[in-house]
Amino acid sequence: MDKRPIGVFDSGLGGLSTVRALKKVLPCEDIIYFGDTGRVPYGTRSNETIETYTAQDIKFLQTFSCKMIVVACGTVSTVSAEMIEHLVEPATGIAKPSAAAAARVTKNGSIGIMGTSATINSGAFDREIHRHRPDAVITSVACPLLVSLVESNWIAPDDEVTNAAVRRYLQPILAAGADTVILGCTHFPLLAPIIQHIAGDGVTLIDSGLEEAMHVKAVLEEKGLTNEAMHTGTCRYFVSDKPQNFYTAANTLLGEDISSQCEFVDIFKYI
Ligand code: DGL
Repeated sequence: MDKRPIGVFDSGLGGLSTVRALKKVLPCEDIIYFGDTGRVPYGTRSNETIETYTAQDIKFLQTFSCKMIVVACGTVSTVSAEMIEHLVEPATGIAKPSAAAAARVTKNGSIGIMGTSATINSGAFDREIHRHRPDAVITSVACPLLVSLVESNWIAPDDEVTNAAVRRYLQPILAAGADTVILGCTHFPLLAPIIQHIAGDGVTLIDSGLEEAMHVKAVLEEKGLTNEAMHTGTCRYFVSDKPQNFYTAANTLLGEDISSQCEFVDIFKYI
């Protein structure tokens, strides 16, 4: 039994898809969330900048003595994969669990990946999928606009602009006949109803937040690090810009009022 919190971070709101899943699969765990809302998006930046931001985000979470670091950001998971692997605490990103799930689920071996530009350029998902399924045919599409649409809270299933953007990004994936699509950016599970509607019932979406949360559960159980069963998990949220912008959207996404649990942090202090 281990009472320390789990540290989770993303460039902004997207990591809440992982938090939402963690609260379901690990309801007894305390969570510290950091959303780098002052510097979002990460996915259009250089690898060097993303690595600098990653190091600062992790430094901040380490001040809480977290028992595990959960990178709830596809961009950091793929671009800063080496840094994450060498942390002293157990850590995970979204790429490995999501790629393994896609390789397991696909029937026709055709897999689509939606991610940020940095994630798609890294080729990390492709490599992971091919480790499990060397014959997989992969169609990867960078979908940078979708991050801004989620950050603007344009996530209603009937939002015309978001529907048009998703249709355009999905087109090459559907044309390739993919039966499985990885939502390779944690912002995208928040658009799952729109993506599923456009892709159709024949396509299975891999929710990176959910796959990651299930992987975290497996790691904590294997290492004997879970919290006591009677404890009700708490969550504190930190952001690098005005908390109000974050919690207004987060309240809708999580279906609860988190405004009193949300604080500003000066992330530039963590170098
Ligand atoms: N949620 C992020 C990801 O999974 C970040 C998107 C961004 O900041 O560009 O890649």
